[in-house]
Amino acid sequence: LKIIYGIKEVRDLSKSLNIGFVPTMGALHKGHVTLIEKSLQENEETVVSIFINPTQFSPGEDYIYYPKTLEQDLEILKKLNVTAVFVPRSDEIYHSDFDTTLGIPSLENLLCGATRPGHFRGVCLILMILLNLLKPQRLYLGRKDFQQLTIIQKMCRDLLIDTEVIGCPIFRDQDGLPLSSRLAYLDPSLRSSVSLFPKALSAIIQNIDNGNQDNVYLKEIFTSLIQREESPFYEILYADFYDKETLQPSNDVKKSIFCAALMVKTLEKSVRLIDNIPFEISSYYPQSEKNILLKCIES
Ligand code: PAF
Repeated sequence: LKIIYGIKEVRDLSKSLNIGFVPTMGALHKGHVTLIEKSLQENEETVVSIFINPTQFSPGEDYIYYPKTLEQDLEILKKLNVTAVFVPRSDEIYHSDFDTTLGIPSLENLLCGATRPGHFRGVCLILMILLNLLKPQRLYLGRKDFQQLTIIQKMCRDLLIDTEVIGCPIFRDQDGLPLSSRLAYLDPSLRSSVSLFPKALSAIIQNIDNGNQDNVYLKEIFTSLIQREESPFYEILYADFYDKETLQPSNDVKKSIFCAALMVKTLEKSVRLIDNIPFEISSYYPQSEKNILLKCIES
């Protein structure tokens, strides 16, 4: 495993012809591992980046506290046979007179963007910088962050970036929650109360499988299940069926994606949990994921 800290070395690496790229902010978990494994299967070289990108954190968010586990992350990457890991220094990426912005006005303020001002601009900026440095053939992003995936696919199309953006299935834990580095912020009792989230999603799947396609009714099922336990600890930020390209609310359940976010309040911080299920027939919604969701409703 090559550990690369400098811009010049990463530019040298970009001369390789077939690179699969997995950008991360570290605190690697099995969800990241599945993206890396997919890249290893599909490319000669796989490069992972670890960079807690300051421009995607809104004021008051957890930039300072974001989990940092570099040593463990490097151990994981060594075992996976990744070619290189790029761990840039913040001041080399954002030098003192950095003044460029990027954004997608029609998408960046919807869903999570409504409560995370500037977040998606920061994500576009860092990914554009990294893609420009590395010039990978393929970029792997998780479908959990569906809005991020949609925005980056659009950015790459608009800017004619010669990288294929691949959305990968959600890796779910036993209780059905998608793995995320911030789940570590939840204590066991909070974690068990938010396991209502995947259960509510499963209820939508079951209803659709039984032929119900009334989006208002399905949304109602979701919210009533989430709100079943009166909890001061979490609130629904959004929950609806959306068109998967425009991210506008959609009535056509079978052609849309159901996206939802909860804000969970712990004693010290707030944690955003996001999840989604696409209802179109689509390669990135494997049966195994559906089975995990349906199983969790039984428990
Ligand atoms: O999804 C993430 O972890 C981050 O938004 C990303 C894509 C690594 C950009 O900083």
